[in-house]
Amino acid sequence: MRRVTLTQFLIEQQRAGRISADLRLLIEVVARAVKAISVNVSKGALAGVLGEAGTDNVQGEAQKKLDVIANEILLQANEWGGHLAAMASEEVEEVHHIPFDYPKGGYLLLFDPLDGSSNIDVNISVGTIFSVLRNPPGSGEPSEQSFLQPGHQQVAAGYALYGPSTQFILTVGKGVHGFTLDREMGSFVYTHPYMSIPADTSEYAINASNIRHWEAPVRRYVEELQQGKEGPRERDFNMRWVASMVADVHRILTRGGVFMYPLDEKCRKQGGKLRLMYEANPMAMIVEQAGGAASTGRERILDLQPHKLHQRVPVVLGSLNEVERVVAYHREP
Ligand code: AHG
Ligand code: MN
Ligand code: MN
Ligand code: MN
Repeated sequence: MRRVTLTQFLIEQQRAGRISADLRLLIEVVARAVKAISVNVSKGALAGVLGEAGTDNVQGEAQKKLDVIANEILLQANEWGGHLAAMASEEVEEVHHIPFDYPKGGYLLLFDPLDGSSNIDVNISVGTIFSVLRNPPGSGEPSEQSFLQPGHQQVAAGYALYGPSTQFILTVGKGVHGFTLDREMGSFVYTHPYMSIPADTSEYAINASNIRHWEAPVRRYVEELQQGKEGPRERDFNMRWVASMVADVHRILTRGGVFMYPLDEKCRKQGGKLRLMYEANPMAMIVEQAGGAASTGRERILDLQPHKLHQRVPVVLGSLNEVERVVAYHREP
């Protein structure tokens, strides 16, 4: 069987007119950065990369050393290629401008450099999430405003999962495609064409320690799942929670399921826990491209008009029929 690499896949996408040369370069550069992050993540204690960095990010979270390292790798890899107008990151408060002596391009890149950082020190899967937008034409040097586009305007989205193997998952708006890192060859190999999420599932993912803080519709939904065969759903449901969004979403992309980080009393003031621009939007695009759905419980995530770079939102995503049920419960009085 012919082994197709990410590089070949992207060249073919460009030839088919699905991506521009600059977008191809952008995705290649992100994938190269992901390989470097994967090396750092996998060395763990041997490279002294575990533990706290001793600083806080804009969201008031204590940064891990790997949050900082992954952020630096992505920024440096993407600065000089000439494909970007600007970048934004979970770990950087303001827009990251391209240094003046480098050429500039037409795309905006947003990322969560290291997702699931509470799992780093316990050697559990973590990831990287990214989203690509066009710099609005005629807007000159990008500002925060340039980034505040609804998720349906993303031209590409993806994530890397640093698990037992490193995988790179990508959509450019024509299905979801998965690649596995061949560590000896140093290349991503196309292993998972057209990934799809079944419409029905018997598996859900939520941090159930927050149950007392949830709103009534989410509580009702989860309580019905927990009643299993004896309840209104008339079947048993299983639960998983990795606490790395990338790992939880990847499981859903692989075998179905519903993932929820709903509004709760603890995160109500900020509007939710997960960040719209570099967590919810890219994952929503991937999930929709795989045949699933992604909602806040009240609105389609990809239709939200962002008002802040680091805005947070409630997230319900995964198997279509389950997401629709959660949304229906939110509509009921
Ligand atoms: P990050 O590590 O990028 O800050 O994101 C962490 C997020 C997400 O990956 C995960 O789903 C969620 O936080 C876990 O939250 P809890 O610890 O509240 O379960
Ligand atoms: Mn964080
Ligand atoms: Mn994250
Ligand atoms: Mn992160």
